[in-house]
Amino acid sequence: MSMNSPKTYSIKNYGCQMNVYDGERMAELFDAQGMIAADDKNDADLVVLNTCHIREKAAEKVYSEIGRLGKTSRNPGGPMIAIAGCVAQAEGSEISRRAPTVDIVVGPQAYHNLPQMIADAAAGKKAVDLDLPGLDKFSQLPSLRKTGASAFLTVQEGCDKFCTYCVVPYTRGAEVSRSWRALIDEAKALVDGGAKEITLLGQNVNAWTGEDDTGKMQGLDGLIRALDRVEGIKRIRYMTSHPNDMTDGLIAAHGDVEKLMPFLHLPVQSGSDPILKAMNRSHSRDSYLVILDRVRSIRPDIALSGDFIVGFPGESDADFADTLSLVKTVGYAQAFSFKYSPRPGTPAADMIDQIPSDVMDQRLQQLQAQLMADQSAFNAKMAGTTCEVLLERPGKLPGQLIGKSPWMQSVHVLAPELGIGDIVTVDITESGPLSLKGEPDMRAAA
Ligand code: 5AD
Ligand code: SF4
Repeated sequence: MSMNSPKTYSIKNYGCQMNVYDGERMAELFDAQGMIAADDKNDADLVVLNTCHIREKAAEKVYSEIGRLGKTSRNPGGPMIAIAGCVAQAEGSEISRRAPTVDIVVGPQAYHNLPQMIADAAAGKKAVDLDLPGLDKFSQLPSLRKTGASAFLTVQEGCDKFCTYCVVPYTRGAEVSRSWRALIDEAKALVDGGAKEITLLGQNVNAWTGEDDTGKMQGLDGLIRALDRVEGIKRIRYMTSHPNDMTDGLIAAHGDVEKLMPFLHLPVQSGSDPILKAMNRSHSRDSYLVILDRVRSIRPDIALSGDFIVGFPGESDADFADTLSLVKTVGYAQAFSFKYSPRPGTPAADMIDQIPSDVMDQRLQQLQAQLMADQSAFNAKMAGTTCEVLLERPGKLPGQLIGKSPWMQSVHVLAPELGIGDIVTVDITESGPLSLKGEPDMRAAA
């Protein structure tokens, strides 16, 4: 059945920062087509669900959200529905079978084709595009960038590592790096749009490689050093990294690139060597710890972050104890931890010795208690100190702004005279497990 061409849109992102970035680029594409963001997302003519497939729960959320949109085959008057992102890639046309009200299914490498797909859907044709061309789709998108004080910049997509639990190599395809020139130009466009901080994104961001303007091969450290020289960029971050791509150059950059913030998100997943092997992580507990030691020797105050999976098939009590002991050894400033979720098509889903859900729950609780205690301890060290905060968004209280410390902690500052985008010296007055509170340092302002 044909429908009107949509005039307003709403995009809902699930999952990782890459989706947040993709969502921003889709919004810019829709703006360039003359559409506008809906004031009330419940009234949008076009709803894009930009989905995540990394764990089962994330994928199931999409189907319940489609249900909530209230469009049924008997009552087709609801919005045009587009499913983007990794669920689209993984499930493809299966989505339209399970959720017949979906009009568009577009994979993460094909969303530059959305204008045509919207026209097709308006003409009553279901539109599906799941190409993984490995081509720079970004070059086909508008170059004007809308941004806040802290901006994401996707430099690399995809993954060649094939950890046995992970869908990313299938949904996002092989590792592809965007070109040096495109990235420097986009970083400058972000600065022109008001960005002070740029976070370089990639599933394996530290696997980025490319030729610089002189034809010399560079790694992520070279790109970071080039961005360090771009006027207007005050802070640089990157995520997510793989231990095997932590090159000497990148480690060194943490010591001498002033704008590179003292924060490293380096997932380890497990502290047990047999489990790391079964996960095909291609690093060991010790080789991971050696990397952290090297980074810490160069940048002693670095805040470390990680990802953990509990209950991978075959994980014994002793394996889990190794994970807990690794966590205690490292002392993470923050971390993400998940129950293992078997993903169809991945090798681990077919492994024998799947762990019962209640055992996973109990391990996850224990791990999260330890991680939360370490995070609180890390934050507690900040009380009574001063640090630079980049103010990023308004807080709930009048005159309150929320920003980030160099170590990625959220800092709530009461400062009616300051604005978003300001970098301000803050006296930290209070610390909690999730955030800090502070006041602008008057001596620094004077
Ligand atoms: N089950 C649970 N967690 C997973 N992750 C990736 N795949 C799975 C899975 N099948 C976690 C990893 C990864 C993060 C993005 O999600 O910890 O680093
Ligand atoms: Fe998934 Fe492993 Fe690649 Fe990370 S490195 S995206 S966990 S396959």
